[in-house]
Amino acid sequence: MNLPLDNIICGDCFDLIKTIPDKSINLIMTSPPYYQQRDYGGGMGNEDQLEHYLEKLLTLFEDCIRILREDGNIVFNLGDKYENSSLLLVPYRFAIQVTETYPVKLVNAITWVKSNPTPRQYKRRLVSSTEPFFHFVKSNDYYYNMDAFLQPDTISKKPKPSSKIGQGYYKLIEESDLAPEQKQHARQELLTVIQEVKLGKIESFRMKIRGIHSEPFGGQAGGRQIQLETNGFTIIRIHGNPLKKDALTMAVESIKGMKHPAVYPAKLIVEFLHLLTKENDIVLDPFIGSGSTAVACKMLNRRYIGFELNPDYCQQAQDRLADLQPVQPQLF
Ligand SMILES: C[S@@+](CC[C@H](N)C(=O)[O-])C[C@H]1O[C@@H](n2cnc3c(N)ncnc32)[C@H](O)[C@@H]1O
Repeated sequence: MNLPLDNIICGDCFDLIKTIPDKSINLIMTSPPYYQQRDYGGGMGNEDQLEHYLEKLLTLFEDCIRILREDGNIVFNLGDKYENSSLLLVPYRFAIQVTETYPVKLVNAITWVKSNPTPRQYKRRLVSSTEPFFHFVKSNDYYYNMDAFLQPDTISKKPKPSSKIGQGYYKLIEESDLAPEQKQHARQELLTVIQEVKLGKIESFRMKIRGIHSEPFGGQAGGRQIQLETNGFTIIRIHGNPLKKDALTMAVESIKGMKHPAVYPAKLIVEFLHLLTKENDIVLDPFIGSGSTAVACKMLNRRYIGFELNPDYCQQAQDRLADLQPVQPQLF
């Protein structure tokens, strides 16, 4: 069977995935039903034992590896569950079993921090507000575009440096036991680096002053250690983009008229697409639900295939996509 691209196909992903040729997909991006959390009207998630749930997911994962290109990426988002007031650690059990069973590497466990988690009134535990997104690859040659990830204008505007930037260091220089000429040198260098930040030449900086800050270790420790000994201080310039961290803070999306109970934000998926795909790459979501992965693909001109068992959600996803700009469909 030839699967049409840019389509949501209503059916069981365990069968449909078998029709996809080997090494043909660039990214598999998905959020399977969580263990015993919701009834989507059949399908995965309501297995009577966690072992059965994990076994089933691992079976699907085997096909994911088969259809993935050598330079492809796989991202699985899973949620956890409490049983007898104790976390089962479902996502982590899954990730451990995957890496122990298949020849894949786990590049990152990226945490989605929900800025608006469902409010709960627990007395003796905190409100869960995070979910992991596991990023797996088949080889070290995986496609990866760090520069495109979290560009400041896609998530938040780059803040202007504060007028107080670096001011605290002047006080620390005075309080230090540096010699007067070392203090003078430190103040001059501090002024220079503050100007560099204000002019946008560098992103930020850190200063370490002998006797005040902990000594550097690892990486360039040797050079910095010598600077600390001879000058009494060292300045670490932070160039380019802000640190690209393994945590993304984003609100849970509420979409008007959407009945699906577990939608992940399309904006979050846009970031994964920037990082792990290029234009016209093929993205598969075997549990596409309300179509968020496809929405993100359509926004960035990636080709998508979505599978969804529940016909109502299939229809909702198709309606949601129809409201976006149309793209040219192609055959696989
Ligand atoms: C957690 S939801 C995915 C939500 C999606 N990420 C979104 O943003 O809307 C999982 C979906 O998998 C579907 N599903 C469950 N078993 C399935 C199967 N065997 N084949 C295809 N879809 C299935 C459920 O109906 C549900 O919509």
